[in-house]
Amino acid sequence: MSVFRTKSIEASMASADDADHQLKKTLSALDLTVFGIGVIIGAGIFTLTGKAAKEYAGPSIALSFVVGAIVCGLAALCYAEFASTVPISGSAYTFSYATLGELVAWIIGWDLLLELMLGASVVAQGWSQYFVTLLGQVGVKWPDSVGPGSHFDLPAFLLIALLTLLIAKGIKESMRVNLVLVGVKLFIVLFVIFAGISYINTANWSPFIPPSQPGQAAEGLTTPLIQLISGMTPATFGVMGIMAGAAIVFFAYIGFDVVATTAEEARNPQRDLPRGILGSLAICTVLYVAVTLVITGMQNYKDIDPKAALATAFTHVGRDGFATLISAGAVAGLTTVVMTLIIGATRVTFAMSRDHLIPASLGRTNPRTGTPVKLTLIIGTVVALIASLTPIGKLEEMVNIGTLTAFMLVSLAVPILRKRRPDLKRSFTVPGNPVIPWLSALACFYLVLNLSVETWIRFVVWMVLGFLIYFLYSRHHSKLATGEEEEGARSAPEVVRER
Ligand code: ALA
Repeated sequence: MSVFRTKSIEASMASADDADHQLKKTLSALDLTVFGIGVIIGAGIFTLTGKAAKEYAGPSIALSFVVGAIVCGLAALCYAEFASTVPISGSAYTFSYATLGELVAWIIGWDLLLELMLGASVVAQGWSQYFVTLLGQVGVKWPDSVGPGSHFDLPAFLLIALLTLLIAKGIKESMRVNLVLVGVKLFIVLFVIFAGISYINTANWSPFIPPSQPGQAAEGLTTPLIQLISGMTPATFGVMGIMAGAAIVFFAYIGFDVVATTAEEARNPQRDLPRGILGSLAICTVLYVAVTLVITGMQNYKDIDPKAALATAFTHVGRDGFATLISAGAVAGLTTVVMTLIIGATRVTFAMSRDHLIPASLGRTNPRTGTPVKLTLIIGTVVALIASLTPIGKLEEMVNIGTLTAFMLVSLAVPILRKRRPDLKRSFTVPGNPVIPWLSALACFYLVLNLSVETWIRFVVWMVLGFLIYFLYSRHHSKLATGEEEEGARSAPEVVRER
């Protein structure tokens, strides 16, 4: 059978009724929005803002955030349409199985794992650093031998172990913890904005877009692919600086797509998923732009400390005590990012296991907790080991490439599904189809080209591994290959059939 075989939407909907693989439907629109904010605001705003402002864009980093928001907004519209049409766990993976075929679905699933598992590990290491800093600020010294950057990052390990147990216990329980921590995180971000406003010196915003300067030619493997292909002379600041900044701060927006992975756990997915996806993205965009304006207004961008821009902006104006508060906010904030990314990873692999692309026994849900316990423990263990034993913290770009590839494919899939299945009920539709989805794919492609050659090589290695697994195992065991899918499809619920 062809690797482009598709799984019908009806069959996908029917899978959700499989008694062995059932999730609990408990989440409301508010839960989903909070879930989105919980995963979006994290290491990006707390750490990348300073670096991107200082090295690439100056005060116009605020515009980089606007560009990032536009790219993500376009992709979010596509995600919202899919999620309202096919409200099934697995997000982009499930959407593409119905449109672009099994191989592309596998590729997307594999990309999403890169985004979610690697993202969780990267952010866990960032968390560990803030945690140890915070302990230091309150006078407790964490032993260096088992601290961040050592052979065994114990705080990162413990964080992931605890979160994994919580996630296995139940989605509602996880959401409750999420709600509290998101509250703390939002408080800190709003605090930075409101406490910082009075220290803004508008002279620091002038010039708002620093004039373009010839950038240092990145060498060898760190060259952005686009420069290698086009032979362009690298430049920083100016308009190109805003774009380069956008490719970096894109990381700060990652996560709204994870909302779609919980589709089967939403009470009214058709209505609430688009609200959760677009709502969380909109709220975070406003907060991000406000934070960047405040930070670049409080001190000249040249003086920003790229490692801790938020905290040092306050130290700079003589408010050292605020730095402790910001570290506490970062510890709370990054916790929910790690938790949500792990939840996303378990839900994507759950969908893959239900389709037998990975062993079905792994994804079985526990009737008491309503979660795929085995899968959760496996993913938690892998993430904990990566985060505690490897120097993965610098691989944000790998997370970006996995995410952008998935965004691109989902955007391309929207017009295809419209054409193939005009009959499906769509509670939310992307305006301006097919132009907006194509524009979205193009924008993601542009950002992917801005990532370094090194990242591309790592990505190719990851994909080769994925292809090996697909061709050696998944292709032969898939429900579509064994014919089991048809039975499910016949008993599909009518809900997806249209008006
Ligand atoms: N957007 C998430 C963060 O910035 C991944 O940490």
